[in-house]
Order: sequence, then structure tokens, then C-alpha cells
Amino acid sequence: MISSQIHLASRPIGMPTLANFKQVEVTLPALKAGEVLVKNTWMSVDPYMRGRMMDKDSYIPPFQIDAVMDGGAIGEVIESLNPQFPVGSKVSNVSGWRSAFISDGQDLTLLPAANIPEQYFLGVLGMPGLTAWVGLMTIAKLTPKDTVFVSAASGAVGMVVCQIAKLNGCKVIASVGSDEKAELVKSLGVDAVINYKKVTDLTQALRDAAPDGIDVYFENVGGAHLEAALNVLNEYGRISVCGMIADYNAQTPVPGPSNLLAIITKKLTIQGFIVMDYFDQFEEFIAQMAQWLQAGKVKSQETVYQGLEQAPEAFIGLFEGKNKGKMLVKL
Ligand SMILES: NC(=O)c1ccc[n+]([C@@H]2O[C@H](COP(=O)([O-])OP(=O)(O)OC[C@H]3O[C@@H](n4cnc5c(N)ncnc54)[C@H](OP(=O)(O)O)[C@@H]3O)[C@@H](O)[C@H]2O)c1
Repeated sequence: MISSQIHLASRPIGMPTLANFKQVEVTLPALKAGEVLVKNTWMSVDPYMRGRMMDKDSYIPPFQIDAVMDGGAIGEVIESLNPQFPVGSKVSNVSGWRSAFISDGQDLTLLPAANIPEQYFLGVLGMPGLTAWVGLMTIAKLTPKDTVFVSAASGAVGMVVCQIAKLNGCKVIASVGSDEKAELVKSLGVDAVINYKKVTDLTQALRDAAPDGIDVYFENVGGAHLEAALNVLNEYGRISVCGMIADYNAQTPVPGPSNLLAIITKKLTIQGFIVMDYFDQFEEFIAQMAQWLQAGKVKSQETVYQGLEQAPEAFIGLFEGKNKGKMLVKL
């Protein structure tokens, strides 16, 4: 069996380009006892992968040059010498960026038989959904009285943040980068939307949208968004720091917000988190989210690129705002 794989050809400097990737065909060996052959059907591209393209120590090891990258994927077992994963099993796995791979089953999770589109397990029912849940419930300690501001609100994490906060009775202000995205988040029930690319003064736009201030800022972007949130947060406000995508391709250190004094005067709590530290909440999260989805209380949105060869373009598209909802590649 031939596996098509996307390798990291070189480390990006600034914005990644297609030249940083190359497609390689690899012949997989015959299966050994206990192994299965998985054909991937969907793969995820995620902003955190940009960090792994740099040769830097972090919470997750860097990708190696001239080696296949990895990440979340969904696949189907097409050959099996492992009774736990018979042929036809649908599995989530961490061996994305390739069409097929051999596994001993340790890194595979069987998808539940429920009537749910399998790609949801890479989005609303997967890592991004859990990130939204943890960031709101555990980190920000959400209460129904809160007004929540969320940046990158139409993305994989952001759209789930909007919906969980609304289901908890909160007022939600969403920031997005286009009018089309604004329509999407409005359809999710948010109370006000800011197209940050159209406003000259983000703080003023946020004040106008939240005249009584905000209590929680769900940070996905950094930079001007953080500065505006610090200006408009109420006393004892909380910032759940999930991501700072505006910084990921920066080639020189980005300027800090000029208003950090607000942390003291408003007695703010700011906490960063990495979702993998909270995987023990997955069962509780998935039970609740599956119920919401089946009751039509949560919607999923996806942007799908077709074919492994388009995976680099899909990945780069994350930094160009090309996705509405979860960015996915259909293999
Ligand atoms: N802490 C964790 O464990 C964890 C886990 C998952 C994700 N994250 C973080 O959460 C954030 C969202 O991730 P996601 O997977 O849901 O991605 P996403 O929001 O689906 O996609 C990225 C979006 O970010 C926005 N964006 C890109 N460059 C930007 C810039 N320079 N300034 C402002 N906005 C920009 C774009 O939307 P617009 O068109 O609206 O600008 C783009 O569509 C990222 O920062 C990611 O690193 C953290």
C-alpha cells in the first residue's frame, strides 16, 4: 500500500508558503500481528501546528524537516490483525498529513456508533470543542451573569465558545474578520458582532457593543484585541488565554498591550491553558455536546479543502482567515 504524506520541507519564516511543504509517496510494509492499516478520510489543520514548524522547545515537540507531520485525523480500518479494531472500524487518530498508516492500535480511538458526521470529532466534538468548553467553564469559570467577548469567533474554537456561552445564559460579543463571518456568528445567536477589519477603534467598538463592560474575554488572537478587552473588562473580569494567532507568524517581537495596569486596577484574572492538560474532561464534555447537537442547540460549520495535496493550502488559509468554522481536509 502506498501512503501519500506531507513532509515539512523547510521551516517557515513569517507566513508559511507552499514551498515549506512537500508531498512524498511511501510504501507501507505488510502488517504484523496486532497491527491495523488505517486509511484516513479527514484530517485537521490547526493554528498550533505553526508553532511545531519552528525548532523550539514547547509543550509539544517540533516537526522534523523531511519527515511527515502529524495531527488530528479520522480514518477507517481497511486491514486488521487486531481484534479490537476490525475492518470497517472508524477511528480518530493523531496521524494526520498522510493518506494511510499502520498502527498497533495504541493511538487509535474508536468513534461511537452514534449517527454523527465523523468529521465532527475533529471540530465541535473534538479538540477545538473541548478547548472552548475548558476555556469557558474551567478557566473563565463562566456564570450566567457574564458578558463574554470572544475573538476569532467564527473559527473552530470561537464558534463553540459563542454557543456554549449563549447556552449558559450569557451575553456574547463576537469579533470576526468579515461580514460573511458576522452573518455566521449572528446565526449562532450572539448579541453583537464586530468586524475588526472595518473598525478604526476596537476599544470603542467593544464599548458600543457592551455598554456595561465585559466580564470574560476568550482570547484567540492577541494584539489589539487584548488591548481592547483590557480597556473594557469590568472589575474582577477574567481572561481565558487560549491563543494569540496574530503573533504566530511574527518575525520580530510584537508590542505588548499598553494598558497592563488595568490588571491591577480592575483586579483581573488572566490564565492561559493548553487543552491537552484537560483531556480528563473529554467524557463529560462529549456527553453534553452530543446532547446539544442532537437537540439542535449547537450547530457545526466547516470549511473543507479536497485532497491531501490541498492540506498545506488549507493550513496557510487559517492565517488568512479563509475558514468559516472548522478548517478540514477531506482525503
Ligand atoms: N490553548 C489551546 O489548547 C488551544 C487549542 C486549540 C486552539 N487554540 C488557539 O485558539 C485559536 C483559534 O484556533 P482555531 O483552531 O479555532 O482556529 P480558527 O479560529 O478556526 O482559524 C483561525 C482564524 O483566526 C483568525 N485570524 C488569523 N490570523 C489573524 C490575525 N492576524 N489577527 C486576527 N485574527 C486572525 C481568522 O479569522 P478572522 O477572519 O475572524 O480574522 C482565522 O479564520 C488559535 O489562536 C489557536 O492557536 C488553542
